Amino acid sequence: MVTNTTSTDAAPVPLVDLKAAHAEVAEEVSRGIADVIARTAFIDGSEVAQFEAAYAQFVGVEHVIGVANGTDALEIALRVLDLHPGDEVIVPANSFIATAEAVLRAGGVPVYVDVTPDALMDPSALDAAVTARTVGVIPVHLYGQMPDMDGIQAVASRHALFVLEDAAQAQGAAQRGRSAGSVGTAAGTSFYPGKNLGAYGDAGAVLTNDAQLAHRARLMANHGSEVRYLHQTLGFNSRLDTIQAVVLSAKLRGLAEANTRRRAAAARYGDLLAAPAVMHPRTVPGNQHVWHLYVIRVPDRDRVLTHLNKRGIGAALHYPVPLHLTPALAGDRFRPGQFPVAEGLAATILSLPLFPQISAAQQERVVEILGDALEG
Ligand SMILES: Cc1ncc(COP(=O)(O)O)c(C=O)c1O
Repeated sequence: MVTNTTSTDAAPVPLVDLKAAHAEVAEEVSRGIADVIARTAFIDGSEVAQFEAAYAQFVGVEHVIGVANGTDALEIALRVLDLHPGDEVIVPANSFIATAEAVLRAGGVPVYVDVTPDALMDPSALDAAVTARTVGVIPVHLYGQMPDMDGIQAVASRHALFVLEDAAQAQGAAQRGRSAGSVGTAAGTSFYPGKNLGAYGDAGAVLTNDAQLAHRARLMANHGSEVRYLHQTLGFNSRLDTIQAVVLSAKLRGLAEANTRRRAAAARYGDLLAAPAVMHPRTVPGNQHVWHLYVIRVPDRDRVLTHLNKRGIGAALHYPVPLHLTPALAGDRFRPGQFPVAEGLAATILSLPLFPQISAAQQERVVEILGDALEG
């Protein structure tokens, strides 16, 4: 492909455009934050409970407990699910480190399983990995869509396992009418700034329909205390900041529409990406995909990534090393070659810029430069 001066000189295309996202809520956020500051309601202001109620309604779940980040959300959920030292929890081999890190931090043992070519947990691999020590499973709604939750729940109920959804990448996703975060025994989600529902710093939440679990999670996130300075159990300090709740409530109102724009952008990539070497991501039948990430597969991926980045395209890798090969996580129980699908994905995946405000011209530029890269 011939490189013309227009594309060489064009502005870079970021992976995610947080400035564009802020512009859509700037006024409401500024007003809300000024109000919190005026009241100095930094911890446990009324905006926290308001956001929790609004998000519970959005997801269709009984209880939302705002916490400091998504990793804490998963750890707190695991702890209130009564994980004991040495208990095994099955997780997919490719995810962000936090999925397995939370298990280890809570005293458990993460056991990895291979995934489907869509990078989602495979219920038959889950079934095969269950041992007498297995107590739970963490399906991850990776890139914005849910794994086969019916299949996963069938295995879980056969073996009496809890199902803790990692819904960090799937705010607004659904499967056959059930939304991400409402299906399992509990869920953890992250409102890290780049997520579909992103705060202006770290934030997360535990979700559950179980009142008892919700109560215990809320205690645990606040030093084991319901009444100030009366501590019923040991916990830790992991609360959702009032200022972050202001941001999240403002953005939540536009989330469904933002997800629709993401779907339109994903469809446009589908039309534009004609190079036979590019393997497109797909929406698994039955899923409402929210395209947290648009992840293609390409040959010679590292060279293609370098080319894109040099030309101002914010392509990235989610994730370059599967969990079972990550030194901090794996111990000596896992080895290269064990999970061929996950390892094949790690070697070929490439996340292209995608965000609700991305323009057709930006996507065309990404595809043009990708075409150049693929031609070498
Ligand atoms: C799949 C997944 N799980 C867990 C997390 C952890 O969330 P946080 O960064 O808010 O701790 C993230 C995001 O960062 C994630 O993508």
